[in-house]
Amino acid sequence: MSDIEAIGKRLMQLVERSKDMDALESARIAVLGKNGELTALLKTLGSMSPEERVEKGHKINLWKAAIIGTIEAQKTIFETATLQTRLATERVDMTLPAPDAPRGTIHPVSQVMDELAEIFADMGFAVAEGPEIEDDWHNFTALNIPETHPARAMHDTFYFPDDMARDGQKMVLRTHTSPVQIRTMTSQEPPIRIIAPGRVYRSDSDATHTPMFHQIEGLVIDKGIHLGHLKWTLETFLKAYFEREDVVLRLRPSYFPFTEPSVEVDVGYSVINGKRVIGGAEGWMEVLGSGMVHRKVIAACGLDPDVWQGFAFGTGVDRLAMLKYGMDDLRAFFDGDNRWLQHYGFNALDVPTLSGGVGA
Ligand code: PHE
Repeated sequence: MSDIEAIGKRLMQLVERSKDMDALESARIAVLGKNGELTALLKTLGSMSPEERVEKGHKINLWKAAIIGTIEAQKTIFETATLQTRLATERVDMTLPAPDAPRGTIHPVSQVMDELAEIFADMGFAVAEGPEIEDDWHNFTALNIPETHPARAMHDTFYFPDDMARDGQKMVLRTHTSPVQIRTMTSQEPPIRIIAPGRVYRSDSDATHTPMFHQIEGLVIDKGIHLGHLKWTLETFLKAYFEREDVVLRLRPSYFPFTEPSVEVDVGYSVINGKRVIGGAEGWMEVLGSGMVHRKVIAACGLDPDVWQGFAFGTGVDRLAMLKYGMDDLRAFFDGDNRWLQHYGFNALDVPTLSGGVGA
């Protein structure tokens, strides 16, 4: 009997003398672990007579409860102490000057997209989106580019393997933002006025082409829309974007399968100190593709082309950024070089507003 008392006391001391969390855990294992002393003691109960078992079992279990209680109490003390030291040492002095944090910049592509959203919002356009992994129907067929159409070859498409087809549709990385026209017309009642900025992909790479680049699509569907609306919209947009009143447009007949008639738009530039500057008409640069939405496209979206007409346009966001902010190599846009970003990037607080000048 006194045996149990002696062992109990000794084990209790072992726990009480633990100086920190690690020592306490070792003590707990030595006492209560699978091969612990108290555990061993409990195992001896099995070989005792019933009377002896009741008496000794009670005593051993009292020690067990007491020791567990002490372990818990010690734990709380150590935890509190740890917290106190952390509170004391990890104090932050809010009155100290802020350390020099590395400063990021807004990428010109993001900045230009914000500028465009601001300009078009003012004309009543909402922003629409579509998936970058697109199916063949939205990217081509619904846009009046059937399978055998030569325009498919023009797009240098990245196709997904056949076994990734969805609903029998071959999947592609979208080659333009025009499928968002289809997604909008099939999900929304006209009148429609949207722009759709986003990433597009073509297998092409040199100083002015990267396999991924950015486009912005515009779409207007309403009653009685004609080419004059398109011209006014593009002129208003380009003047606001380049922040010059002397922006001159030249509309050239062109061909896109999804617009009829199709119009390519050039903007005039002047040469100042050997550099091309937008404005005037010394030379011409192509900036966007556009046209009246083809009847077949409107019909493919379930609308009656005798009731609804509209125009669409598409242009490269990266190219617009280069023309306005003077970069000459498109590849650098996507190198993530911090020096380039420091030079061409924008301050996060420079949110473009029409009143403040979109490129301020
Ligand atoms: N999707 C065309 C392209 O990528 C641009 C375009 C959009 C032309 C809308 C006309 C109308 O080249």
